[in-house]
Amino acid sequence: MFSNGPLLEVENLRVTFTSGRGRRSTEVHAVDDISFNIYEGETFGLVGESGCGKTTTGRAIIRLYDPTSGTVRFRGREISGPMTKDLRDYLTSNIAMIFQDPVESLNPRMTVQEIVEEGLKVRGIRDPEQLRTRVYSMLSKIGLSQEHASRYPHEFSGGQRQRIGIARALITSPSLVIADEPVSALDVSIQAQVINLLNDLKAELGLTIMFIAHDLSVVKYFSNRVAVMYYGKIVELAESDELYMYPLHPYTRSLLSAVPQPNPVTERKRKRISYDPAADHDYSKEEPSLREVYPGHFVSCSESELKRYRLELQAQGKIS
Ligand SMILES: Nc1ncnc2c1ncn2[C@@H]1O[C@H](COP(=O)(O)OP(=O)(O)O)[C@@H](O)[C@H]1O
Ligand SMILES: [Mg+2]
Repeated sequence: MFSNGPLLEVENLRVTFTSGRGRRSTEVHAVDDISFNIYEGETFGLVGESGCGKTTTGRAIIRLYDPTSGTVRFRGREISGPMTKDLRDYLTSNIAMIFQDPVESLNPRMTVQEIVEEGLKVRGIRDPEQLRTRVYSMLSKIGLSQEHASRYPHEFSGGQRQRIGIARALITSPSLVIADEPVSALDVSIQAQVINLLNDLKAELGLTIMFIAHDLSVVKYFSNRVAVMYYGKIVELAESDELYMYPLHPYTRSLLSAVPQPNPVTERKRKRISYDPAADHDYSKEEPSLREVYPGHFVSCSESELKRYRLELQAQGKIS
């Protein structure tokens, strides 16, 4: 599907947070050895419940956090090594992040013009006329007008503020945008508008998007591939349609069972499945690893689970 090769390569990434000191210090393995690629032009969904490590993954890629170990490459260049000015410039000109909370992430004392132009200034553009023109053109792309440029964040609704967050991220023409739950804080009625806007901008600007969400319903319609995270690990990764039609990992199934069905008949039959790792797996003899059950469909499993998953796919007519 993507002939362009990986734009982003994440290999054995770990981020461990340590709190406290000495013998009383505790470690949180927020991201625990994950690997995936994101291809040019795709929307890659990263899904999992709160606290599973999604934000940490995004922040480690863009280097708001330093990886504890592992390698991340962007267009073949390592971006996980020691920070230098050159690497910082490379990151800011190629990758941008849209944050979850449009209220917290916009400085209340800055005008929209100042907020959106910041990335350009960092890159050395100083000419006020050029800054204004670039910001006006960006504002029109996100559905605001130039009159909005002199206003402050509190004068806008939640959806408009997230649009401003999107403008700020896209002003420097990044290739990869990490959107960290960009609609979770918004009213349901506004969520679709912001998602549609992102999709339109993706096509118009040729973006690649890593879209982080805590439930599968949001990413379903526009992610090409989806990775499901659970306690710092990727437990399943597949093309979006495949994941929804043939979920294999019990955690993915439990997440899917939480998605309301538009059809009232299937909605009435919907049963919530809960995931209980101790009951669902026996890893006493064999550690799980991410294995390819079907081309492009990876599941964290043991060898015996792999066999069982393949039999399930056979029974469903997916493989012969
Ligand atoms: N700066 C930090 N310091 C210490 N622990 C953190 C920090 N950021 C996140 N964590 C912990 O790492 C884990 C993953 O958090 P996070 O990446 O924010 O998850 P998610 O975005 O999926 O909700 C959680 O247990 C969280 O408490
Ligand atoms: Mg988060």
